[in-house]
Amino acid sequence: VSGTFSGPALPSLGIRRLGPADASVLELLARDDADFDLRGDGPARAPLSREDAEAHLSDPHVLHWVASADGAILGSLFCHVLPMRKQPATELLLYEIGVRSAWRRRGVGRLLVSAMVDWMKANGIVTAWVLADNPEAERFYAACGFGPGSGPAVYLELHR
Ligand SMILES: CC(C)(COP(=O)(O)OP(=O)(O)OC[C@H]1O[C@@H](n2cnc3c(N)ncnc32)[C@H](O)[C@@H]1OP(=O)(O)O)[C@@H](O)C(=O)NCCC(=O)NCCS
Repeated sequence: VSGTFSGPALPSLGIRRLGPADASVLELLARDDADFDLRGDGPARAPLSREDAEAHLSDPHVLHWVASADGAILGSLFCHVLPMRKQPATELLLYEIGVRSAWRRRGVGRLLVSAMVDWMKANGIVTAWVLADNPEAERFYAACGFGPGSGPAVYLELHR
């Protein structure tokens, strides 16, 4: 998937799926985590070790696309392929999407979601779901075709 936009300063974008040799991209995403996130000013995050990054990126249940322009990564979408215990046998959890703060509202996020949807079509997966954690993201997902989920889910965590 690739696309070109009409704004004067916007370079042409390419989308690619990360593979086992892309540990350095995970390092960059961890280092610049805040710029891809809503908060904008948080600390860098610790990256996976090289070995763990290679294992993660080799996992067929991990789908990770990045949008780049002129060699710079502007956005990232990371999802999990979830095996189910009944049909349909697989669905997608869109775990995380982030576009660099300076590059938002230029179609980068939409292009990343279309790469995911193309992958779903090619692999016979009919459902993707996401937990939106802010109202702007909700509007973005709606613009990309997401609708309300089927149940009144409550997000909970357990820490030990
Ligand atoms: C959400 C996010 C990924 C969207 O990426 P983006 O590249 O800015 O989105 P796009 O430019 O492709 O937007 C596509 C459409 O989504 C909608 N949209 C996107 N951002 C929006 C916003 N802040 N408010 C309202 N609608 C928005 C619009 O309809 C937009 O089309 P338009 O610009 O022609 O009006 C980006 O804002 C981001 O990284 N946010 C911080 C991280 C985050 O919140 N991630 C999701 C956590 S659940």
